[in-house]
Amino acid sequence: MSRGVRHFLDFEKISTNEVRHILELGYKIKHKNFNKKILKNKFLSMIFEKPSTRTRISFEVGMKQLGGDVITLDQADTQLGRGETVQDTVKVLGKYVDVIVYRGSTDKLLNEISKFSDVPIINGLTENSHPCQIMADILTLQEKFQSVDDLKICWVGDGNNVCNSWIDINKHFNFNLNISTPESFKPDNSRIKKVKKYGRNINYFLDPREAVENADVVITDTWSSMGTKESKVRLSKFSKYQVNKKLMDFAKKKAIFLHCMPAHRGQEVTSEVIDGNNSLVLEEAFNRLHVQKSILLWCLNMGF
Ligand code: CP
Ligand code: NVA
Repeated sequence: MSRGVRHFLDFEKISTNEVRHILELGYKIKHKNFNKKILKNKFLSMIFEKPSTRTRISFEVGMKQLGGDVITLDQADTQLGRGETVQDTVKVLGKYVDVIVYRGSTDKLLNEISKFSDVPIINGLTENSHPCQIMADILTLQEKFQSVDDLKICWVGDGNNVCNSWIDINKHFNFNLNISTPESFKPDNSRIKKVKKYGRNINYFLDPREAVENADVVITDTWSSMGTKESKVRLSKFSKYQVNKKLMDFAKKKAIFLHCMPAHRGQEVTSEVIDGNNSLVLEEAFNRLHVQKSILLWCLNMGF
């Protein structure tokens, strides 16, 4: 990693204190309506190799509310579409802008480009992780429960990038994590082992009803992430894992429902649950905005 540059890549390379500071600042930004133009003359560039609504808009609005400006690049309208490497693109962008959000393929590539970059790189989602999302999720739960420590949090569905980041952030907070996925869609065991070293309580259940039993929070996500082929065979393997009222009845009476969105109503979640009184999905999406601002400030070493 380039020396002295604060990249926001994953929850392994960032300390517990830093994660907690970013969340505290996100909370202050939201509740004290902090919109000082402290990023005036600073530029953010965002590279999207995959579609985005929330990540793109929340970073753009966040940067602009703090006085900065944004340039967004899709593959089609840059030389990336003609085969210029992300590494070269990032090296060049560093000559113009102060910070970069990258939504791309793998964590491996993300880590590699961060080594070449003279400016901070923020992980805007890879096929392996989505840490910005989980920061907003934790903020949402802290607002609801004060602390996430000791909560029983249950992930149901695909052991995907968002699930991985839930596992990773368990290093920094002492919540209990139950994971229920079809056998062939389990998250990587080595990832879980790394976090268990910190004494965390992570358990796998094939039966989602057992996993959800008495949970404080139930979370799901699409059964086919971007870049994954959606097939009838694939979807049929998940049918038992839909978060519906019947499944939520196994959780605590007032259990909270979260989903990073976009949601596929009728697949991983029913409208009754996502639109229900215990769903915090819109607050969760709103918190992306506040957390993006604090991540930007942390990366630029401002406001800390
Ligand atoms: N949750 C999330 O990252 O949404 P987008 O794909 O719309 O950015
Ligand atoms: N797991 C989903 C998250 C979208 C924000 C995907 O990668 O498509």
